[in-house]
Amino acid sequence: MNTLFEDPEAVRAIPEDTTKLVVLDESVIERVGRIVLALKNDQVVLVRDVTQKDADDIMFSVARHFGLDNKLEVEAGFASVKGHRENVGKYFMTVNKREDYHFIPAHCEGSSRMRMQLASFYAVENTTDGGASILLNINDESAEWGALRELVKKCKAGDKKLSPFEIMKLKMIHGIELPDDLLDEQDVIISDGGSPVDGVDIFNVLEQLKKVYSVILDRDCYAYWDTIASYDFDSGEGYFDLLKSSHMLKVPDGLRDFTTLDNAYARRVWKSGVNYKSLFKSKLTQTLMAGDLVFMNNLSWAHSTSNWSPHSGRRKVLAAFA
Ligand SMILES: [Fe+2]
Repeated sequence: MNTLFEDPEAVRAIPEDTTKLVVLDESVIERVGRIVLALKNDQVVLVRDVTQKDADDIMFSVARHFGLDNKLEVEAGFASVKGHRENVGKYFMTVNKREDYHFIPAHCEGSSRMRMQLASFYAVENTTDGGASILLNINDESAEWGALRELVKKCKAGDKKLSPFEIMKLKMIHGIELPDDLLDEQDVIISDGGSPVDGVDIFNVLEQLKKVYSVILDRDCYAYWDTIASYDFDSGEGYFDLLKSSHMLKVPDGLRDFTTLDNAYARRVWKSGVNYKSLFKSKLTQTLMAGDLVFMNNLSWAHSTSNWSPHSGRRKVLAAFA
């Protein structure tokens, strides 16, 4: 008996739905208004032939419309402080480094603590034989969200009374907000988190997901945060299967271990057993060209990049978040 055909979910591919893409060329006036409207309809917007300076200006105007201009400034300011990105222009920054043949599995930028609402990508150049952006629209109603967990830092302070300085230290160094981030019995401890405060134990834990308020959609929704997607082995496997079934996977000669293609593999710590395809309603696949500027809701859309053959061309895509 072929069990594959007994389960409709197992054979369902994530459909490509181009009705969720709005393309604006340079002839369109009122571009910001059109972008805002499309985002409120939970669509992705692709603006063609934009200069890098205009990309900064348009991003600022869109962010300001949703009251996210301060967040945009803060995220741009933090980019180089964290050390893994470099600022380019005012708000855009380089994307994370990757090894040859690495793909970037689907994720929403950041974590439920950072709550980045708006994501934008700008292509300076892209001449490789891959490097497609695959954007996945999250299926908020799937029961599968119950199977997922987010990796966060939490602490146990016992009877210790923390000073305001110690509370600030926990927030600045580990992003721990008290009393919300006190360890509770639902949390699964993964490892010791290293504490900067005497008498306080910090742990890396898997916690149950909570919905986050989307400023753009004016409702609570599940997001597939990096802190969920990059720590679950099934996220990497699900994305690998997606690339393979879409014939978008580049594989070096003689490769046996496919996990070496997964940019997030070293961070993964557990297997959720999630039905990956059920997390998404549809997808959009776009190979960005020089001057392409893309906007999406960072909560309702996950972004990812297919891999490419080394030396097949150059790819420089910048990102901005608010
Ligand atoms: Fe990302």
